[in-house]
Amino acid sequence: MKIAMVGAGYVGLVSGVCFSDFGHTVVCVEKDENKLAKLRDGQVPIYEPGLDQLLEKNMAGGHLSFTGDLAAALVDADACFIAVGTPTRRGDGHADLSYVLESAREIADAMPEDLVVVIKSTVPVGTNRKVAETIRQQRPGAAFHMASNPEFLREGVAIADFTRPDRVVVGLESEHAEAVLRAIYRPITSRQTPLLVSDPETAELIKYASNSFLAMKITFINEVANLCERVGGDVETVAHGIGLDSRIGERFLNAGPGYGGSCFPKDTIAFAQTGRDAGAVQSLVEATILSNDQRKSAMADKIIQACGGDVRGKRIAILGVTFKPETDDMRDAPSLTIVPALQAAGAQVVACDPQAAHEARDMLPGASWSNGPYEAASDADAVVILTEWNQFRGLNLAELAACMRGTTFIDLRNIYNADEMDAAGLDYWPVGKRPSLS
Ligand code: UGA
Repeated sequence: MKIAMVGAGYVGLVSGVCFSDFGHTVVCVEKDENKLAKLRDGQVPIYEPGLDQLLEKNMAGGHLSFTGDLAAALVDADACFIAVGTPTRRGDGHADLSYVLESAREIADAMPEDLVVVIKSTVPVGTNRKVAETIRQQRPGAAFHMASNPEFLREGVAIADFTRPDRVVVGLESEHAEAVLRAIYRPITSRQTPLLVSDPETAELIKYASNSFLAMKITFINEVANLCERVGGDVETVAHGIGLDSRIGERFLNAGPGYGGSCFPKDTIAFAQTGRDAGAVQSLVEATILSNDQRKSAMADKIIQACGGDVRGKRIAILGVTFKPETDDMRDAPSLTIVPALQAAGAQVVACDPQAAHEARDMLPGASWSNGPYEAASDADAVVILTEWNQFRGLNLAELAACMRGTTFIDLRNIYNADEMDAAGLDYWPVGKRPSLS
């Protein structure tokens, strides 16, 4: 198949590179000239493990190329994927569709006959028909086919998620579109991954309902963690105990500082807004959004409490500032709430992060930066694990304790246990369990 991929951001780039690795010919269209120049030079502008090698291999193999010229990319194309951004629109919480609709108009101007136009961007229900209408207005009478194909990639493990997904979802109404998408995804579906075919609205809803459900699952366990801290109990064992019920499942039940990133916060807000507009209020999703917002500031309070209720003049080391490991993405990261709250309470914050220090510097003004966990912990009154990077999973706790001024260790990802903290002479404050003071 010959595929044009409009937008070489996170989703477009991962999808385009992986499709080319399946043997399809892929041309990615990127308007940002800096990004385009980097990509043409074989450089990946984002941090995603394994993507650079795959990109290099397929560019060298002649399956993958990058251009700023959409019309050129559409010559003889079987399918054109729209993978541009849909940020939250200011003011009303709706997804901003201006980039999607602009792409639709540009595609309409240059599309070959019977092109399958596939929406991969996360878009609210109804967008598929809106895009079709936009194309029809721009090119009355032209023959094209619409499809919706939401993505379920997680940053940091996107290549594995793309090549071995739980399912592929396509929403469409034309036999030709179904045949083309089946051909594009054959390398995956031939390994028994289900390809679910629905109407466009259902496919659009599956994406938002999936992200909202996962965000709700995380928020549920975070609230249970609060309860465990008050009444006694261990949230990890509670999560394990309920997750063993196959109707619940164990994944996405790790209590933490609240979900962040480019998807859950934005998609829950958009889904809730769609529900309100349609007169079908999604009250669980509304509660999830509120609870998660509150959790981020509650984590700052938890750190202050662990530091004796007053952090004025105290030096607090923050290990990890991204919303999760294996990414340099800072969007809606809990650190963006927690660090300023600690600073406002008078703390001096010193941070370190394996990937995002450069990106985060301007977003966390007033924080100082160190090269690694031991340097960050040097003279610190307290150390906080905020992101569970592998680099922070096997710390030499005795060495860390020796360079600290205080003995407070706050583990917002529950990666250590009370015994090892005790052995190092550290006071341990996990999430959803009683603290253990050495
Ligand atoms: C999420 C979904 O998992 C993907 O399926 C989806 O395709 C993607 O959004 C998207 O819509 O593009 P992502 O945002 O990359 O992927 O990251 P997740 O691994 O889902 O983590 C999101 C947040 O939830 C992180 O802040 C993470 O720390 C938090 N989380 C996750 C928890 O606090 N506990 C958990 O058990 C799991």
